[in-house]
Amino acid sequence: MKIQTNKSLKLYNTFGVNVSAANFIEVKSDQDIQQAIQLNHQPIFVLGGGSNLLLTKDPKGLVIKNSIAGRKVVRSFKQSHYVKVGGGENWHDLVVWTLKKGLYGLENLSLIPGTVGAAPVQNIGAYGVELEQVFHKLQAIHLETGKRKTFFKKDCQFGYRNSIFKNELRNQYIITNVWFKLSTIKKVNIRYGAIQDTLMKMKIKNPTPKHISNAVIQIRQSKLPDPAKLGNSGSFFKNPEVSKKKFNKLKKQFPNIKFYPLDNGKVKIPAAWLIEQCGWKGKRVGNTGTYQHHALIIVNHGKASGKEIMSCAKQIQKAVKKKFGVLIEPEIRVDFL
Ligand code: EPU
Repeated sequence: MKIQTNKSLKLYNTFGVNVSAANFIEVKSDQDIQQAIQLNHQPIFVLGGGSNLLLTKDPKGLVIKNSIAGRKVVRSFKQSHYVKVGGGENWHDLVVWTLKKGLYGLENLSLIPGTVGAAPVQNIGAYGVELEQVFHKLQAIHLETGKRKTFFKKDCQFGYRNSIFKNELRNQYIITNVWFKLSTIKKVNIRYGAIQDTLMKMKIKNPTPKHISNAVIQIRQSKLPDPAKLGNSGSFFKNPEVSKKKFNKLKKQFPNIKFYPLDNGKVKIPAAWLIEQCGWKGKRVGNTGTYQHHALIIVNHGKASGKEIMSCAKQIQKAVKKKFGVLIEPEIRVDFL
């Protein structure tokens, strides 16, 4: 384990923002983490795949890059298998591996950038599936005491792009291993319209989980920019939820509004639609702006700083608030200090 100083993080965040970490260490085991904690550089910031993150300043203290590896089936039953996965593993590689093993449940979450350890933090979700549906438990190490703790599903307080690790326990733990409960039965989730449309185009009538994965990959590749070519962090904002009353008012004023009614009586509105209506789709301001094919994605056209990206996000937030009276909030993690 080697400590590096003044380390550029440009290649460690998908926005491609060039900030420099005072101290940087890559950990591959629990012991590495415990040693890193003992170095006593504060604050400690844990980095996964850097795909849901906007860095606006040089991190002081210590940046720990989680590279804990390992994927294995730990318990097998007829209809389900439990797999244990290292927090540093690449998410999509895990999805591919599970499909090859005939284990299902992750296919709708294909091609989400990032690492396995970061996935529970924001309860990643896409195309009708959220991580919590396949999550069993995780192990994490407390960054102050170095103590290991197990969190079961109920302990994680999962919500829409949310968990206890984004709230009460924000920046307090590093997730070392995650256990998933996957199915051996080829049951598929095609509730999401875009999946049905894509399967139709692919001329597939009885889709298997592998087909779903291929369809999701196609959809994602067609509308989300590849961070290797254009810096971005996926959806920048969450889709806001408004009360029925507020929604009815909006619907009168904007009859074409897109929406999804929720079980809790509220109504979810796609932030991408709100942003596009404000004239922000594909708009460029200096080195940043929104993606031409998807208004919810803020991109780095090359040399944008984190502060420039944040200022663009604030302008978008203000425009939406002014036109619709709705506050859209970042989905991604902005700094940590
Ligand atoms: N839309 C527009 N303009 C656009 C793009 C979309 O008006 O430029 C409208 C369309 O009507 C579309 C609706 O917005 O039907 C929703 O768009 P989309 O299906 O692309 O989904 P999203 O709500 O923007 C969410 C997740 C994505 C996830 C997709 C698919 C959030 C914040 N984002 O996006 O997750 O892949 O659904 O399930 O919930 C991420 O979290 O980084 C992410 C990419």
